[in-house]
Amino acid sequence: MYKWRPGRLFWKLLLALWVCMILSIAGVATYFQLTGRGPPPSVDGIARIGVLPVAPLVSAGVAILVTGLALAWYLSRPLQHLRWALRRIAEGHLDTRVQPLMGRRSDEIADLAQDFDRMAVRLQQLTESRKVLLHDISHELRSPLTRIQAAIGLLRQDPAQSEAMIGRIGREGERLDALIEELLTLHRMEAGVAARERVDVIELLYAIAEDADFEARASSRSLVIEAPGQFVADVNGDLIYRAFENVIRNAVKFSPEGAVVEVSSRIVGDGRVLETVVSDRGPGVPEHMLESIFQPFTRVEGQEPVHGAGLGLAISRRAMEMHGGQVVAARRAGGGLEVVLTLPLRDA
Ligand SMILES: Nc1ncnc2c1ncn2[C@@H]1O[C@H](COP(=O)(O)OP(=O)(O)OP(=O)(O)O)[C@@H](O)[C@H]1O
Ligand SMILES: [Mg+2]
Repeated sequence: MYKWRPGRLFWKLLLALWVCMILSIAGVATYFQLTGRGPPPSVDGIARIGVLPVAPLVSAGVAILVTGLALAWYLSRPLQHLRWALRRIAEGHLDTRVQPLMGRRSDEIADLAQDFDRMAVRLQQLTESRKVLLHDISHELRSPLTRIQAAIGLLRQDPAQSEAMIGRIGREGERLDALIEELLTLHRMEAGVAARERVDVIELLYAIAEDADFEARASSRSLVIEAPGQFVADVNGDLIYRAFENVIRNAVKFSPEGAVVEVSSRIVGDGRVLETVVSDRGPGVPEHMLESIFQPFTRVEGQEPVHGAGLGLAISRRAMEMHGGQVVAARRAGGGLEVVLTLPLRDA
């Protein structure tokens, strides 16, 4: 919970008021010193307002005025800068920074300026990545649409090809559907809402492995799994399913014929974390792309065109992060890729 503690600004204000008071007393003392007169009631003949002598009042008034002005300037100037910066951000100028205007100041207002700049940087990054994502999405949606238009064109020219072209249009339609479905999943996860239920993640993993192995065998690949008895956690079963499925399907998809995909799970961290390693003997991923493949629509160039929406790993990472876990990729000794997914029993 938030607990108030006197900070630097508080001490500055206090000090300023003290200075103000000391200045006014010093003014009175100087007055007595210069005139050689004693303090009020004992002297007669000095100028008064009512019963109060004028000189100390003027002295205190001037001292408070000077200190007050300095204080007001010291406080209001940076706040005006912040206000200006806020307005600029609201107008969409996300490159606005307020810290350079603060000079060498170091107090809560300077901290606020620093936090403000950090927020502006984050906002700018998010907006930029949204722009890139939107651009990529339009591009990805356009490709199948262009192929559908091309197929329709060919169909018109040569009705004899109707069977092949209708098949093509159907496949492109399915691809569009899958892409939109994945985009919606990613969007739902961005909103950060997912109901939790108690799920045995190992059981889920076996179900995915079984399906993947069944499909892999059809193309003379296979999959082996090694996992402990059970790992029951509070998770969103659907998202965790997709997280593991995307990684395992990638391993199968990129494996050469006859290769075996290995899925191996173990419980670590005093029984609180499930660590799953998915390894394949496919082409692997270059060192510099091991992180970027988790960004939407990033694909490794030069690989055989294995069709996919390019969103699988982005979904896996987001799903694991929503559960306090993570997913990272590494190059496998002897060739291939190794993806490690960690899932804690409960978020930290
Ligand atoms: N096991 C792997 N071996 C080699 N490259 C991989 C592997 N897994 C992922 N990649 C590379 O990372 C890219 C991104 O993977 P991701 O799963 O996000 O997309 P995708 O598989 O192309 O499409 P989707 O999963 O949406 O159907 C892939 O296109 C591929 O280039
Ligand atoms: Mg994939």
